[in-house]
Amino acid sequence: MDRWAHAMKDGRTVVVRRAIERDAEQLLRNINEVGAEEDWILTEQVPWDPRQEREWIRGFDDSDSVLYVAEVDGRIVGQVDAHISMYPKAHHVASLGIAIVKAYREKGIGRALMERVLAWMKARGVEKANLEVFSTNSRAIALYKTLGFEIEGSRKRQFKIRGQYVDDVYMAKWL
Ligand SMILES: CC(C)(COP(=O)(O)OP(=O)(O)OC[C@H]1O[C@@H](n2cnc3c(N)ncnc32)[C@H](O)[C@@H]1OP(=O)(O)O)[C@@H](O)C(=O)NCCC(=O)NCCS
Repeated sequence: MDRWAHAMKDGRTVVVRRAIERDAEQLLRNINEVGAEEDWILTEQVPWDPRQEREWIRGFDDSDSVLYVAEVDGRIVGQVDAHISMYPKAHHVASLGIAIVKAYREKGIGRALMERVLAWMKARGVEKANLEVFSTNSRAIALYKTLGFEIEGSRKRQFKIRGQYVDDVYMAKWL
């Protein structure tokens, strides 16, 4: 299996690779940790069902979709997934989602995962990468901008986080 090693900002090494079924429980734990923070992603809790999670992982076929994980010292600490649109009219477009557990943020892992998934898209002939981000998520928006993403628009007050309205910002990058 391909593995991409990157130096982290703290000198450790992060390895990016495709997810395998054995990662199911760690991925479930991670997404539920990030979801429980409420501030960053729409998902708050995925039911604890490792069998279903393994099926979800199997669904990423590497041609229309992919799921990469970031591993540090043998522990999965982040993930990014991408899907090329199933509609012929939007087949030049892919959407992505990314999440890193709290203790491993701001160490360069987000950039490493983003660069990998954008390279995957480019290799498959995708022309445009899309994502959605909460208007309050300035760290993510800064990362996306440094990678060449631009804001295309937003759905105003699309979400409420702890009673506060938040816009759903649409960002895109032409590859
Ligand atoms: C958003 C997220 C993916 C970014 O990944 P990360 O590993 O924390 O970020 P990186 O260390 O790779 O930083 C990359 C860039 O982000 C920006 N950045 C990092 N921390 C920042 C902060 N506190 N404020 C503003 N910008 C920041 C910088 O531009 C940085 O560039 P640099 O590498 O040249 O310094 C990660 O923090 C995360 O998963 N957060 C929780 C879940 C989430 O928000 N997912 C995205 C939903 S759309």
